[in-house]
Amino acid sequence: MTVRPLAAVLAAGLLASLPAAAVPLSYDLPEPTAQLRPAPGHEAGLAAAEANCQSCHSVDYIAMQPPGKGADFWISEVTKMRKVYHAPMSEADGKAIADYLVAAY
Ligand code: HEC
Repeated sequence: MTVRPLAAVLAAGLLASLPAAAVPLSYDLPEPTAQLRPAPGHEAGLAAAEANCQSCHSVDYIAMQPPGKGADFWISEVTKMRKVYHAPMSEADGKAIADYLVAAY
């Protein structure tokens, strides 16, 4: 009887369990659970937020903040997204978004 090293036995078993051809994977992403709220007079800020604030995380991150946090909070949030997390948007868009968030949330 030949004694095979354990690693060879494990490798053979692993290979045998792989499918012959790679099966392409596809995913259906869930619908977002939250949409950004409208705020009268802040349509441009809403559009900028829609374009710039949902690429890394869902709108839930915005919607789940306690209401009425005010300008200081939202300005610093948007600044953090831009400066710390490198969210790519112009300073002007960032300002319009912060103004919109203050009005909407
Ligand atoms: C480049 C990626 C990126 C973009 C774009 C982005 N964020 Fe974020 N955001 C993050 C990361 C990373 C976190 C922290 C996640 C964590 O801690 O789990 C976060 C967290 C948050 C939070 C939760 C509170 C906090 O500070 O952790 C809020 C609110 C938020 N983002 C708002 C926004 C807004 C408003 C915009 C658009 C101006 C935006 N984000 C765009 C990356 C991004």
